[in-house]
Amino acid sequence: MISNTNIRLDEEIDRRAVPALKTHAMVLGEDGDDLFAAGVADMDFKAPPVVLEALQKRLDHGVFGYEAVPEHLFDALIKWLATRHDWQVSKSHLLRAPNVLNILAIAASLFTDTGDQIIVQPPVFFDFYDIICENHRGIAANPLILKNGRYTMDFDGLERLAADPANKMIYLCNPHNPIGRVWTRAELTKLGDICARHNVLVVSDEIHGDITFSGHPYTPFAALGEKYADNAIICLSPAKSFNVASCCSAFTIIPNDERRAAFQVENSRLTVNKNNAFASVAMEAAYLSGGPWLKAVLSYLGGNLALVRECLKSIPEVELIEPEGTFLLWLDFRGLGLSPDDLTSFLRNKAGWAITRGQAFGPEGEGFARLNIACTKACLKSALGQLTIAIVNNR
Ligand SMILES: Cc1ncc(COP(=O)(O)O)c(C=O)c1O
Repeated sequence: MISNTNIRLDEEIDRRAVPALKTHAMVLGEDGDDLFAAGVADMDFKAPPVVLEALQKRLDHGVFGYEAVPEHLFDALIKWLATRHDWQVSKSHLLRAPNVLNILAIAASLFTDTGDQIIVQPPVFFDFYDIICENHRGIAANPLILKNGRYTMDFDGLERLAADPANKMIYLCNPHNPIGRVWTRAELTKLGDICARHNVLVVSDEIHGDITFSGHPYTPFAALGEKYADNAIICLSPAKSFNVASCCSAFTIIPNDERRAAFQVENSRLTVNKNNAFASVAMEAAYLSGGPWLKAVLSYLGGNLALVRECLKSIPEVELIEPEGTFLLWLDFRGLGLSPDDLTSFLRNKAGWAITRGQAFGPEGEGFARLNIACTKACLKSALGQLTIAIVNNR
């Protein structure tokens, strides 16, 4: 019998045994087999034992014909949000979606018009740009401000952009990939007030909400109050929290009745409202009983973060932007004095690192790179050793 007590995060698992994106030639290139694969934002850990057990049970049933959404799936999520984040969500406000990016795309196509612009706050998750462009919307960039190693929002810039009627929506990343800020209640309130004042719809991607470090609680945007919730579309998923991105689907919370109805009609038109048995089983088990596993993972990530901090003490050329959440670290390599392209090739060819180049997150990311630390300690230690040698040899 598998249980939550059987959590072995130190176990090395061969990601190449399945077509994992992180280790795939699509990401690493044809000659990237030996690289430290730390780009794609998933974890190298097995999913929670309770999830594996539930999936095994469903597999053993053996019949995978059409299914309805399990009766208690939404209850499991609602209970998770209430107990963990003190956020009371009405079941009637919840809709399922295939994944978070799908929610972002549908929101853009439903609630903005071709030629309208969507506000983003770079450096920010690169897929935001693709979705906006593929939906023939424009990008209105309100870059974050980096001061003394900490990013904050530019509220004056946001006010200016929000006041422009061409800018109809903002993609908020809460917590923010890649810079690791967990936005505070005060920051979110300020953003929410600006957006409400100018009729800018807040589409809040909260996929990393469960992964925060001590002292930095995640504030769900819609939990700020009714006024804020009414002007929001919230994107949630267990993909990051429980490492089930490939067998999972997402949820959207849309408190505004008209927008939710429109979303439902669009889901139906696109026929993306079918139930995937494995996704449902994984989600329900994770939200009901995955808490202890997540606790163990957060503690493990804290240990990995400490390893990075320790290593960087001897490499002043590289600065860690201290994360408040997510398992993604934003590293400032500008001290190496390399061009963005040279930095990518230095990391790849000298350190053996395949991490995400900073410019993928917008021009503000040049000279930075995003490191995923959700790997085993042994793997991270070895990678940090390689980086140290590469930099020392480059001095
Ligand atoms: C901020 C953010 N949103 C969305 C996604 C992807 O979500 P999904 O796989 O549900 O589309 C990621 C994955 O890296 C992410 O970091």
